[in-house]
Amino acid sequence: MCGVVGYKGKNIKVADIIESLKLLEYRGYDSAGIAFNYNGDLVVQKNEGKIDKLLINFNGKYEDISSNIVIAHTRWATHGVPNDINAHPHIDCTKKIAVVHNGIIENYKEIKEELINKGHNFISDTDSEVLSHLIEEFLNKYNNLFEVSLEVVKKIKGAFAFVAISNDLEELVAVRYESPLIIGIYDNNYIIASDIPSILRFTKKIIVLENGDIFFINKKNEYKIYNFIIDKEIKRPIEFVSWDISIAEKSGYKHFMLKEIMEQPKVIKDTLLERINIDSNTITLDDKVKNLIDLKINDINSIVYLACGTSYHAGLLGRYYTWELTDLNPDAFYASEYRYINKNVNLDKILYIVISQSGETADTLFVARELKRLGANIIGIPNVIGSSLYREFISFNTRAGIEIGVAATKTFTAQIIAILLLNLYISSLKNKDNLILKDLIQDLAHIHIVVDKFLEDYIKIQEIAIKYKDYEHFLYLGRNLMYPVALEGALKLKEISYIHAEAYPSGEMKHGPIALIDSKMPTMYLAPYNDLIYKNLSNIQEIKARKGIIIALVDNKSVDIVKDYVDDFIVLPYVNKFLQPILFNIALQLFAYFVADLKGLDVDQPRNLAKSVTVE
Ligand code: G6P
Repeated sequence: MCGVVGYKGKNIKVADIIESLKLLEYRGYDSAGIAFNYNGDLVVQKNEGKIDKLLINFNGKYEDISSNIVIAHTRWATHGVPNDINAHPHIDCTKKIAVVHNGIIENYKEIKEELINKGHNFISDTDSEVLSHLIEEFLNKYNNLFEVSLEVVKKIKGAFAFVAISNDLEELVAVRYESPLIIGIYDNNYIIASDIPSILRFTKKIIVLENGDIFFINKKNEYKIYNFIIDKEIKRPIEFVSWDISIAEKSGYKHFMLKEIMEQPKVIKDTLLERINIDSNTITLDDKVKNLIDLKINDINSIVYLACGTSYHAGLLGRYYTWELTDLNPDAFYASEYRYINKNVNLDKILYIVISQSGETADTLFVARELKRLGANIIGIPNVIGSSLYREFISFNTRAGIEIGVAATKTFTAQIIAILLLNLYISSLKNKDNLILKDLIQDLAHIHIVVDKFLEDYIKIQEIAIKYKDYEHFLYLGRNLMYPVALEGALKLKEISYIHAEAYPSGEMKHGPIALIDSKMPTMYLAPYNDLIYKNLSNIQEIKARKGIIIALVDNKSVDIVKDYVDDFIVLPYVNKFLQPILFNIALQLFAYFVADLKGLDVDQPRNLAKSVTVE
């Protein structure tokens, strides 16, 4: 993980680069640092803690300083605890070279030993420090960072996006392998970063580096790109990004998470745009996705969803949608699990749906690449346009816009919409006159209006959060389509409130978790009106019989059935059963949000997490 930034060009305010780094904080935030050329000296400033601390320290010493060559880093620790020394940038023994790195150098131990034997003095516990010393070593042979980096990539194994600068040579090199790097270009200046938004304050003209690319800028600010995998110099297109920088602002909300929860009606509308037609009751998929499904529909007999974290919960929901809406057999796996099991199956019979908001999650990407190599049918569902999943696979992208809050909210809703659309399309290929489909298409087209109205009044959820915020354990229960929602609700509470929350299918509660139930562990019970409402009522009574506390999420059709048996309830609008997960999940997002906020926690950047995990 981690976020990296680099700059080379005419003098720029170094504090501007730190501001840009702030937009990468979602990638990790346990320490931060910067290195830059100041009148020929390499200045390095770094500390444990967030970028704001770096900015204060920096301004205390160097306010208003400009530089022509800068690198910066925000860290999510893999090797070595978060402290000042392990923070990036790392420098070499001559103190002329500085490096920032995102990823893991898997063979760093042997390289470190080799370099120590050659007299190098290491000061940190990180894997990344080998990079600065390796560069120093190879600079004895070559006098430029380009040839040096060609040697460095031959030595290191693992995943890396690193940016290195040499103060003496006034050169910069950025290398991408399995971790993203984008180059922004304006006039004769170059800004390098782990994602596009952090570049937008400087320029909308970008180059997306591909795996194996080395981007080198010499003293005269001339650049070249060389791909070390195919061993030749290449040209990459300069693309224009139309995004607005305001996407990365809170727009009056206290937290990005709340802003992003509130954006969900728009996200639903955008993700459906031109893909759903309520006059003809049809779904129109993006061309490549449609062609793949049309071509393979008679060969495949199953859909397998692969993802991590929140995206996995969307995949699990997809498993239920596929069961109920199509004649295909569904399955869902954590990507990290599927990667290392023997795929002793006929791949021609499977359609893989690979879901990743960032499109860069290593666990997800690596299994998708492996399946692609084996010739599998794959559709990716990324949110980030330009991400690896987006570029390397046939993609059905969600249109949630950039999500800054580390805990996924609006992107999960967009994933549900995308998965529903795929299933509806597959279903319609075989059964055009299906009434359930027609109803669902109509309801889906209007669900953003219901969500919008529901979001106007969340006072009841806030009151429940105030009442229950101090409990240390929660049980989340839901059946069928509500089970993945229970998992996602529990995950949100864990992620941002640090409260222990377990989720189970309601029917499973009596097979073990029931032993946990007492007056100290409230149950968040998801009970929408559908065929299972009386089964749910029985489970609710089993909990009450054991003195458990129940907060029920109900809708205006199930409320009267449930309300007398529970301690508290929140009423949601009744909607089509396939769309209930969207509303129930939003209610749980709000509950987790208010609990975390009431506890005074860092909602947008919870401890230990990072939004995009680019290591296995
Ligand atoms: C990280 C984040 C989770 C996210 C997961 C998958 O672990 O902390 O919030 O759900 O990655 O991310 P993806 O970008 O692949 O959807």
